[in-house]
Amino acid sequence: MKNKKRKVKKKRIFGLLFIIILIFVIIFLIFNLKGNKSLKSKGYSNLEIAEIEKLTSNEITTILKYDYNKNLIYMIDSENYNSSKLNLYMKYTLKYNDIDYLKIFELINNENFREDKIDDYIYYLNKYDEINGIIKFVNEFKDKNIKDNDITILLLNEKYFIEDYLNRYLSYYNTHKNLEASEIIKRVNSKLDYKFYDDSSKADTSKGMYTLVNKFYYLSNDFVPDNLVNVTGIYARDNAQLNSTAYENFIKMADDARKEGLTLKITTGYRSYNFQATLYNNYVKIDGVKEADTYSARPGYSEHQLGYSADLTNDKNVSFSEFEYTDEYNWLKNNCYKYGFIMRYPKDKEYLTGYIFEAWHYRYVGVDIATYIYENNITYEEYYEFFLR
Ligand code: DAL
Ligand code: ZN
Repeated sequence: MKNKKRKVKKKRIFGLLFIIILIFVIIFLIFNLKGNKSLKSKGYSNLEIAEIEKLTSNEITTILKYDYNKNLIYMIDSENYNSSKLNLYMKYTLKYNDIDYLKIFELINNENFREDKIDDYIYYLNKYDEINGIIKFVNEFKDKNIKDNDITILLLNEKYFIEDYLNRYLSYYNTHKNLEASEIIKRVNSKLDYKFYDDSSKADTSKGMYTLVNKFYYLSNDFVPDNLVNVTGIYARDNAQLNSTAYENFIKMADDARKEGLTLKITTGYRSYNFQATLYNNYVKIDGVKEADTYSARPGYSEHQLGYSADLTNDKNVSFSEFEYTDEYNWLKNNCYKYGFIMRYPKDKEYLTGYIFEAWHYRYVGVDIATYIYENNITYEEYYEFFLR
């Protein structure tokens, strides 16, 4: 008797469960069909619906809140699609449908996008393509009293834009209207709106191995770096001195180069103020000031005085001007950064560094910075001003 009762009870429970599941399935189907049907009635094609149905029900609900959006599929298929921004994509690509939806999509995806500023962004989007510049301008500069919006947005869009220098950029632009914003930034960050030597100031030696010494930043005549070590034997042409960290890395570099049959020898590393004075004055006697200034630093203005720079030659002791044509130079060009060295005065950057291309002059700045400079093809002036100043 008891058993029979139990069986009946079990049957009932199973029946009830079955009915509950059935109800859920029916509700699910109804909702799905309704979603599908609504998408259809919004105007989405079967192909589009197939794509949309890959989204979550929350996303589909969001889509159904708006009219048909012809760019929706491109956006949801984009690798930059962010589901939490779907509502914004829908809202603003439809509202501003006279603007390329990709611009709006990019705008909304920008980490500094603020919805309350949308009308201002759109105003500038009608005139410019530079999304970063527009967002930065609207968010941070529009309320400040800045006159020339056009160039400002182009400047703000640039990677190495420094806010403190905005007025310098703008006045440089006023006398160089043919230059692109990136070039203005590069030049002003390298201080080219100032005069070599005349507008110079003391180098900030608190930066240690990162100290920038050039035609704008000098070392005092009694500045002698710590930790100098002698470079001798196969590593130097005569006797040279170098900062100990730079030295260790130079040895590694020279040893690796030797494995490939190349010889790297230092001609001079550290130079004292007085030695630089003798060198420079000699050059002036031979070539005159104007010419000497293109390849030799005035005393105090040479980064050799820091102890982190080295002029190199090879086993044939080629002259500086011949070094460019050696296998050693070719190897250094693509490898010196791995040891923390940069080619300090590159080709085509003469106007930024103030010196002619020096294939032989290398400066130690550590692997991270050297790698950045190598990969981004910038000068130490540009790097220093943006990252280390
Ligand atoms: N040749 C480099 C610029 C120097 O004299 O330091
Ligand atoms: Zn040098």
